[in-house]
Amino acid sequence: MPELKWSPEQLIRCLAFVNGKGGVGKTSLVANLAGLYAGGGYKVLIVDLDPQGNVGNDLGYIGAGRSDDGKALVSAISTGHAIIPLTNVRPNLDVACGGEQLDELSDALEAGHGGGVTALAAALAQVAESYDLVLIDCPPGNKPLQRLGLAAARWLVIPTKSDDGSRLGLAKVARLFTEIREEVNPWIELLGVVLFGVGSTATRVQNSVRADLGQDLDNPGIVFISTIRHAEAAAYDARKRGQLMHELERDVATAPKWHERFKTGRKAETLAASAGTVAGDYQRLAEELIDRIVAAETVDLNDRVDVLEGQEVQA
Ligand SMILES: Nc1ncnc2c1ncn2[C@@H]1O[C@H](COP(=O)(O)OP(=O)(O)OP(=O)(O)O)[C@@H](O)[C@H]1O
Ligand SMILES: [Mg+2]
Repeated sequence: MPELKWSPEQLIRCLAFVNGKGGVGKTSLVANLAGLYAGGGYKVLIVDLDPQGNVGNDLGYIGAGRSDDGKALVSAISTGHAIIPLTNVRPNLDVACGGEQLDELSDALEAGHGGGVTALAAALAQVAESYDLVLIDCPPGNKPLQRLGLAAARWLVIPTKSDDGSRLGLAKVARLFTEIREEVNPWIELLGVVLFGVGSTATRVQNSVRADLGQDLDNPGIVFISTIRHAEAAAYDARKRGQLMHELERDVATAPKWHERFKTGRKAETLAASAGTVAGDYQRLAEELIDRIVAAETVDLNDRVDVLEGQEVQA
């Protein structure tokens, strides 16, 4: 067994959200699920590994001028020190901000520097036990950063849309997952695939995609039952306002109705009424995801150590 600077138990509640394809809901899922878990009383950390830093748009801290563009995260990863996150982005929710600094880290990793593929795991292990859950948002199309996320995670969640391009992206993640599992992280497992941005009435299409993905991944039950439906207006409003879907839902519910506007004198902002249904989707998925983790947590991680017996940890 190669010498690791952390134990797999320290990272037992770390989930990486990965798909090589862009725009399949990675960031929306990470931000919304984290917000729901934090609201429910879990202590949650988001690690934003994306140079786009979109978690900060969804949670509103970029608009509030609180992002450091990934500086603290990159510093922790490249020096091996503990991650120092932005605290209380919401009650119980901290974030290691992403942003353009991660581009430099990616270049360094590609050149064989930056601490190597296990550098995030080492930095994260020092703080992960203070959290009930750690959700890692991985960038599309950036292999060095995706590998960092996968090397630090106990669980992989793959968001996907139902088109063929997304299915291809998923095949790429599956290959990367196998690579990382064989090289450095035998503890990582696929928790499930989330169908994102689905049409609410396309049940036949959904069932067929579910069957295809189950076949691709050799596991018929791997796609979560809960899906996140397509709701462009709600997604637009949420990101523009730096709100999560359940927060937008609250504002939609308390906004003055059109027929009350003369009386209240409040100028109306039209908000997407679909926020409520999408918020319900996230809530159901949040519950299903926890159920799967709880059901799987009986596994003894030390049973897997021999997978790496005699191998070198790859940088
Ligand atoms: N339920 C939804 N329906 C339709 N569009 C949505 C929904 N949720 C989010 N979106 C929008 O879809 C786009 C992609 O979502 P998101 O950023 O979560 O995907 P991503 O996989 O993280 O993208 P990237 O690969 O660029 O990081 C965003 O513009 C987002 O506002
Ligand atoms: Mg994203």
